[in-house]
Amino acid sequence: MHTPVMKMFGLEAPIFAFSHCRDVVAAVSRSGGMGTLGTSHFTADQLELELKWLDQHCDGKPYGVDVLFPSKQPKEFENLTPETVNEYLPNEHREFVKALLRKYDVPELSKEQSDEMMREYMSDLTRTHREAEKRLEVVYRHPLARMIVSALGTPPPHVIERAHSLGLKVAGLIGHPKHAKNQAEAGVDIIVAQGWEAAGHTGELSTLVLVPEVVDLVSPVPVLAAGGIGNGRQLAAALALGAQGAWTGTVWLGTAESEVSPEVKKKLFAATSSDTLRSRCGTGKPARRLRSAWVEAWEAEDAPKALRMPLQSMLVNEALERIVRFRSDALLSYPAGQVVGQLREETTVRQVVYDMLSELSNTMDRLNNAVEN
Ligand SMILES: Cc1cc2nc3c(=O)[nH]c(=O)nc-3n(C[C@H](O)[C@H](O)[C@H](O)COP(=O)(O)O)c2cc1C
Repeated sequence: MHTPVMKMFGLEAPIFAFSHCRDVVAAVSRSGGMGTLGTSHFTADQLELELKWLDQHCDGKPYGVDVLFPSKQPKEFENLTPETVNEYLPNEHREFVKALLRKYDVPELSKEQSDEMMREYMSDLTRTHREAEKRLEVVYRHPLARMIVSALGTPPPHVIERAHSLGLKVAGLIGHPKHAKNQAEAGVDIIVAQGWEAAGHTGELSTLVLVPEVVDLVSPVPVLAAGGIGNGRQLAAALALGAQGAWTGTVWLGTAESEVSPEVKKKLFAATSSDTLRSRCGTGKPARRLRSAWVEAWEAEDAPKALRMPLQSMLVNEALERIVRFRSDALLSYPAGQVVGQLREETTVRQVVYDMLSELSNTMDRLNNAVEN
């Protein structure tokens, strides 16, 4: 099988993988799919090191890079500093976070540790177009980086033009048909249509409904289906809906290569498909993650309303770090989609790709036979 998108990048498998972990990205690209690195956690300098590593570990195969271009980004947040951000964080919200961590006996960081964290993450957390473009300047220096994926909004026209002039493809990740239309009209080369089953920021339409609608709407622009794809039957379904490949995230969390800690992996393997929920508690925008006491407290009726992006991340960043650092099992959560219920034990990236492709092939045979009989 070779869909036009696979030909675009010379792939052997119609499998695209999102990960914040370079080991997963490289292993997927080496296995015939295309790994894409999430860059939102890296400064430009850190990203340079990550991409240098990828250049050396992808065996010459292409990889992608995912950046966030939030569509609604008030100018006032561009110059936030650790000192000024507190003016935007209401007391009620800060007290809510403090009380929650106290309830679960999560130790505090020292003032120095806390200040250092805030300085380190400030540029990352502001999520401005300026920061995204700084990262892209790094990406443009790495010839194996063949695709930029823009999430949360359409990349500005000059970014699409520049990427095209350097021979890169641009993909837009969307959760609603109207956003797909905007991205296609802006000139992106691929649309990633992501249903609400997915991990991370999601809209409210299921993959089964969203993908065919988007395929028809943006044709001839190719579409990848995302959300709820973790095995070969789901991959076959994505292709049947008119997608040219699957864009996946959750399924890689259970691999040996993934960045996920043993504590989170244990939770992932124990989770059922009902153990995730969409919550604004992480970033201010609805995102699907594993259920935990942290997420449920934010979803409770008496909880304060999550702040808008990027303030919510700034409010909770240190709390999340403390939860991880001090291993607070009850509060620990992680972005995960509904296919988390399919993850049972640790595997490898190569095995996931192999299993998906062989089940895809069996499924296609089964469907052909069913039609013939
Ligand atoms: C741990 C994790 C973090 C994610 N963070 C981002 C992100 O920063 N940017 C982004 O575009 N997508 C992000 N996603 C969503 C993926 O790009 C992808 O659309 C989604 O995982 C596909 O659905 P699935 O989880 O059902 O496979 C994340 C996914 C996971 C699993």
